[in-house]
Amino acid sequence: MPGPGALAVVYGGPSAEHDISCISARRIVQTALDGGWDVTVIGLTHDRQWVDAQASLVDVEAGDALDSPDELLEKFPSAALGGLGAALPEGAVVFPALHGPFGEDGIIQGHLETLGIPYVGAGVLSSAICMDKGIAKSVLRDNGLPVADWRTVARAAWGPDAVADAVDALGLPLFVKPANLGSSIGVTKASDAAALGDAVVSAFAFDDNVIVEEFVPGRELELAVMGNEEVRVSRAGEIIASREFYDYEDKYLLGTAETVAPTDLTPAQLDQAQRVAAAAYRALRVEGLARVDLFLRGDDAIVVNEVNTMPGFTPISMFPKLWEAEGLAFAEVVERLVALARARHERRRALRTSRIL
Ligand SMILES: Nc1ncnc2c1ncn2[C@@H]1O[C@H](COP(=O)(O)OP(=O)(O)O)[C@@H](O)[C@H]1O
Ligand SMILES: [Mg+2]
Repeated sequence: MPGPGALAVVYGGPSAEHDISCISARRIVQTALDGGWDVTVIGLTHDRQWVDAQASLVDVEAGDALDSPDELLEKFPSAALGGLGAALPEGAVVFPALHGPFGEDGIIQGHLETLGIPYVGAGVLSSAICMDKGIAKSVLRDNGLPVADWRTVARAAWGPDAVADAVDALGLPLFVKPANLGSSIGVTKASDAAALGDAVVSAFAFDDNVIVEEFVPGRELELAVMGNEEVRVSRAGEIIASREFYDYEDKYLLGTAETVAPTDLTPAQLDQAQRVAAAAYRALRVEGLARVDLFLRGDDAIVVNEVNTMPGFTPISMFPKLWEAEGLAFAEVVERLVALARARHERRRALRTSRIL
């Protein structure tokens, strides 16, 4: 009997979330192998070299994370690939299991578009918008969705006046974030003007644009969304940080943050959270999948924090957990995502590229 098809999992990538990608990809590869997919594994190193990572399937069978593409290439220099296209079997769908800049921001998506290959997840525009916190917030606000008030500051515009303006407009404490990262890297909570100045300067090490945002006191909710024209939204999960906020240590190093999936909400709170999550997904033109992160304020108002177009798939990640809670095993999630990738590809191919009928 023929299997479900060819799936190429791309992982690693030149981002601070490279290691998380290696763990996410293992889960996808393992699930796809079990489901009878014809699996190709392709690594991407920190310096953007493509690597034939088929050898690291041994790690997956042993239950380990995939070898980092950088290490693989060091061990087996002959695994270097001239490009992504040549390594892909006929009819393959690519699952870019890459997080953060380069893999989640439209760059890989654009490369796959030029190769004409169907891929899992949001397209070029949506990926790029969602990766930039300032642009994403502008789009959400223009679509009438609730976001925390903020200022986007460019490096050249930053100075003592800008500090005073931000504090006047947004109050204290404030959250400072590089516009273009994830995993809480470079995110600081500033309690006074001096701390704000320092926080912005450190955030500029990561990006040319920095977000200064009002503090939202409340609970942190995360919802999983899948779909193209029609979307399905999970119930809400909750992050209970063990530190002052859900920072990098809490997320990945200490593993002390608690994740509850699904969390306890009133029917009205859940309904509101699901509506806002679906509306944010549509406003940002996401297709395939996303994890929509919200705040639930004390007065029950929902505020959108961010939309992640390639959320983690590690064993502790919220996205797969939320679907499991809805009765959808991870194998079904992978199948659904590939079906959505193929459907989007066919739909786009059917668009006219000429004025003549
Ligand atoms: N405006 C805010 N008010 C309160 N907490 C915030 C705010 N912005 C961010 N945080 C905290 O910081 C964490 C990381 O910020 P986030 O915007 O989600 O960045 P990242 O893309 O790195 O995950 C959030 O999970 C939350 O705990
Ligand atoms: Mg976040």
